[in-house]
This record gives sequence, C-alpha cells and structure tokens, in this order.
Amino acid sequence: MANMVEPDSLLPSSPVMPRRVLQVGAPPAPKENQNSKSHREELFFLLGGLVLLITLLILLFLYRKRIQSETLRKKIASSNQLLAKVMMTAPTKQHQASMEFISESLRSISYFDLQTLKRATKNFHPANLLGSGGFGPVYRGKLADGRLIAVKKLSLNKSQQGEKEFLQEVKLITSIQHKNLVRLLGSCIDGPQRILVYEYMKNKSLDLIIYGKCDQFLNWNARFQIILGIARGLQYLHEDSYVRIVHRDIKASNILLDEKFLPKIGDFGLARFFPEDEAYLSTTFAGTLGYTAPEYAIRGELTERADIYSFGVLMLEIISCRKNTDLTLPSEKQYLPEYAWRLYKRSTLMDLVDPKMKQDGFVEKDVLQAIHVALLCLHPLANLRPPMSEVVALLTFKIEMVATPMRPAFLDRRRRRHEETHSWDDISDTFPSQVVSGSTSLPSRLEN
Ligand SMILES: Nc1ncnc2c1ncn2[C@@H]1O[C@H](COP(=O)(O)OP(=O)(O)OP(=O)(O)O)[C@@H](O)[C@H]1O
Ligand SMILES: [Mg+2]
Repeated sequence: MANMVEPDSLLPSSPVMPRRVLQVGAPPAPKENQNSKSHREELFFLLGGLVLLITLLILLFLYRKRIQSETLRKKIASSNQLLAKVMMTAPTKQHQASMEFISESLRSISYFDLQTLKRATKNFHPANLLGSGGFGPVYRGKLADGRLIAVKKLSLNKSQQGEKEFLQEVKLITSIQHKNLVRLLGSCIDGPQRILVYEYMKNKSLDLIIYGKCDQFLNWNARFQIILGIARGLQYLHEDSYVRIVHRDIKASNILLDEKFLPKIGDFGLARFFPEDEAYLSTTFAGTLGYTAPEYAIRGELTERADIYSFGVLMLEIISCRKNTDLTLPSEKQYLPEYAWRLYKRSTLMDLVDPKMKQDGFVEKDVLQAIHVALLCLHPLANLRPPMSEVVALLTFKIEMVATPMRPAFLDRRRRRHEETHSWDDISDTFPSQVVSGSTSLPSRLEN
C-alpha cells in the first residue's frame, strides 16, 4: 500500500521555513502598458491642476474688477455730489463727458508733502515771497526735478475746510484746464495748514507792468494778445468748462504772464476754499472795489456778468496803463470808467491811451474797437453786458458791433450826488435787479 504522505510531513520538522506565497491574479502587464498608464495619470493630475489654477485666476480677476468698479463708482458718486454742490449747471448732453472728465482727473491729482515744499521754497524764506493777497502769502519754489512752482499758503484763520472738502475742491479745480488759466498742480495738507501749488509764471502778474512797478513795456500787439487771452480764459470758465465758474476777483494781479507774456488767469475757484468766510473780499476790498460790478457790490448778485464788468475795467487799465482809481489825478480822470465815458461822449477816446503806446504806434481802429467793447462790458445793466464768447468775437472782428455803450456805474468816493454821474450810491435805486432766470444767480458770495 502506498504510503500517503502529507506534504508537510516531507518538510523538515525544524526549523520552520517561511513559505513563499505566490500572488495569483492577472498576468503581469507588459512594461510598455505600465508606462503609458502612469503617463496618463500624470497627465490627468497636470490637467486637473491647470484647470484649478485657471479657475482661481479667473475668480481673482473677477474679484479685482469688482473692487475696481466699486472704487470708481464711489469716486464718480462723490464727484456727482460735488457737481450738485457747486451749482454745476452743465447741460445734460455734456453730463456724461463731464463725469468721465472728472473721474479721470481724480487719478491725476498730485499731493505734495510739507518737506518737499519746504525744500522747494527754502523753508518759506522771505526772499522767495512773491506777494501776499487776501488768501495768504505766495512763495516761489523749485522742485527737485527743476520745475518752478508758486506755493500759496492759505490763511489758517480763514480756511476752515475739512481735509475731505478741501481735497474735493482741489480735485475740481485741478481738472479745469485751459491755456489761459494758471494750472493748479496739487496741494498739501499739514495739520490745519492748507497749501496750494501752482505752475510758476515767469513774468509774474500784470499789475507789476501796468501799474509801473517794473520797467517792462508792452506794445499794443502784446496788450491785445493779453486782453484776448483773458477773454478766452473767462469764456472757458463761464461757458465752455463742464463746471461754470464765476471768478469773482478778476483784476490785474490775478492775471499771470508766462515767458512769452501770454496771459493766464490765476486764482479761479479760489473762493471755494473759504465756504464759511466772506471776508476774503473785504481784506483787499479797497483795491478790488474798483473792479466790482455794482449789482454785486450793492445787492450781492453774483453772476458771470460781474466778471464781465471787472474784465471791462481791466481792459481800460491795460489800454491806459493806470489803476482804475487814482485819487492823485485831476478830478475828471480819477475814476477810469467815468473818464472813459466822458471821452467817449466827446469822441476823444484816444486820450485814454497810454502815451508810451501812442509813441510806439498802433492801428487806431483796433484800439477804438477794444475800448468800445470795454464800455459794453461796463453796462450798468448786467444782462446787457455781452457774454464772453461775444466779447471774443467782437475783439476779433468776427461779428459787428451793434450795441451802443451806456454810462457805466462806478464807485464815486467823492459822493458828488448833485453831479450827473451814476455812482454806486444811487445805482441801486436807478437800476432794478437784473438777475433773470437762466443766469447763475449765486446768492451773494455763497455759491458754494
Ligand atoms: N503762479 C504764480 N506765478 C508767479 N507769480 C505768482 C503766481 N501766483 C501769484 N503770484 C504772485 O504773487 C502775488 C500775490 O498773489 P496773490 O494771489 O496772493 O495776491 P493778489 O492776487 O494780489 O490778491 P488776491 O488774494 O485777491 O488774489 C501776485 O501779485 C503775483 O505777483
Ligand atoms: Mg491772486
């Protein structure tokens, strides 16, 4: 009988060897298949990662875009408030363009820190003091990049505006640009101190020339270019800019001259920095009064027409090279508008012209036309003064002169009421209020 032997029994009883266990399954894949599988897995993970990354980037992009448009929306909203606040009467069709213009300007405003301005002005050294007006002292400065600037320190006791309001005004004024307006470059806030930084005008202000504070002589051609430039700058402020601005203080010292003696109107919009304060006018009122339109001085009616009146006075000053009021002169010459009117009535207007300019020579017809325009600007009835676009057209002979001047109203400090003059003492009785709807009737110095 065959012995049945248990397989285990064939193994030596001791020591027990570990048994090798063979895995039984699918036959091992060929090496090539294995490789392509692992490649597929790698590709799968790579693509997955890539899709995830792209999704994250898209989400990030959308998020940033939302933030940006939110910020822009806020800026435009605040500009909108500004527009409403300053009685912007921009026509609706211009509104969209206006808003874009403003939001663009919001990005371009410059801020100067006090240290930079101290360095530029040698710590506001008196030698750099250009002058001091009703708003505070103005210093000449030079920035590190060589640019010349005029730094205006606003009077602390008057500029009570908060930072936000101040910056809003700066943004607004910075965005108003024209070749005949001095550019506001930026501003600085240091504690309560508010400072404005303007482009520097090499030939300073027109008063220095026409009031004989320097030897500079301007011939008729140069004077005409100055008159025309001021008219264009004012036209822009009154009619063409997206925000209508009444300057309120058109006078020789606010006309700055560049290196070619081309004029730029300075200080436009400056009164906006003094919302609560009306006294800024009175600080220099004695000097400014001769430029002030009667309806503004008496009844506080402030419209563009008040600027046009001041422009008329300024034109006469430029042509005659003298101040509007000079009590050292013989009686009939003391008040320039009054004197001009007398000469007009006598048909001797050429007597008004600066003798030096006469020597130099000019075309009489052109000068006469300019004096006529000035007299129209001095019309006692505000609504009958020509708007600035018409002034420009008249000066350049683009339209014919049809209106005739009327005796201007002027301040008569001599109070000769018995004489046949319209002084401001009696003008308010003589002429009723002329503010009509459609004109910017800004309640007395409170347009803000
Ligand atoms: N951007 C400028 N470039 C060169 N000089 C300037 C500039 N701005 C002002 N000035 C000079 O500084 C002087 C003082 O200017 P400021 O505006 O303070 O006084 P104002 O024009 O006489 O009076 P107001 O305060 O009524 O404007 C001016 O007369 C002018 O000569
Ligand atoms: Mg000024």
